[in-house]
Amino acid sequence: MRKISIKNHGVEVIKDRLYSRSQFAESVYGEKIIKKHEYFLHAWEPKKSKLSAAISDGISRLPIEEDTETLYLGASSGTTVSHISDISNDGKIFAIEVAPEPFSKLLNLSENRRNIYPVMANARIPDEYSFFLGHSPDFIYQDISQKDQTEILLRNMDAFPEWNYAIYMLKAISIDSARKPDDVLNEQISKLKKRKGIKIIETINISNFHRGHFCILLQNIT
Ligand SMILES: C[S@@+](CC[C@H](N)C(=O)[O-])C[C@H]1O[C@@H](n2cnc3c(N)ncnc32)[C@H](O)[C@@H]1O
Repeated sequence: MRKISIKNHGVEVIKDRLYSRSQFAESVYGEKIIKKHEYFLHAWEPKKSKLSAAISDGISRLPIEEDTETLYLGASSGTTVSHISDISNDGKIFAIEVAPEPFSKLLNLSENRRNIYPVMANARIPDEYSFFLGHSPDFIYQDISQKDQTEILLRNMDAFPEWNYAIYMLKAISIDSARKPDDVLNEQISKLKKRKGIKIIETINISNFHRGHFCILLQNIT
């Protein structure tokens, strides 16, 4: 296994395990907590979070700072949201989730963590939540395993044109399980490349942790 080499103020690596630095002592989804000086380290397992998998598999940068405003599409009950909330302590995470059950857990999480803004909405319709954000987020994160997930991402990029970076967790087997994941990836990449102003920084195959998944890091160069 490769050594984790990410540089970000909000994460630490101890014995090749990734942790996010947090002010919260409570575990969110059963993750291990270590008390360190004046803060707490929350174990961030690559099998439980695709973002942790992308970091473990060598993503070159994590575009999340202390004050980053994130639009998170497909937040579920908040596993990965909780780590982004740790990292951008002075930022905001607008967490979009359509399903009532995970949304109610997300709502509970946001009661303690003031930087999480849960919105029960359909990510296919950014008009349902654009008024809530008011302006474009710095960072868009998308983890929605739907056939039209690339179109959902592009629609949100159009609705929030001043985003800087995006991380797109592509589930090739949800788009077409009959084709090779690499072929599906290439087809979706060409859709992204057709869009003016989008630079694809890198693509990381994270299928060692999440079957049929790729992480795509994008930058807005308009
Ligand atoms: C793979 S799970 C996300 C896991 C989460 N990102 C994490 O790492 O903790 C995908 C989520 O997307 C949600 N979802 C699917 N279609 C959606 C849509 N159109 N709008 C908003 N959320 C959607 C699902 O309900 C599900 O909770």
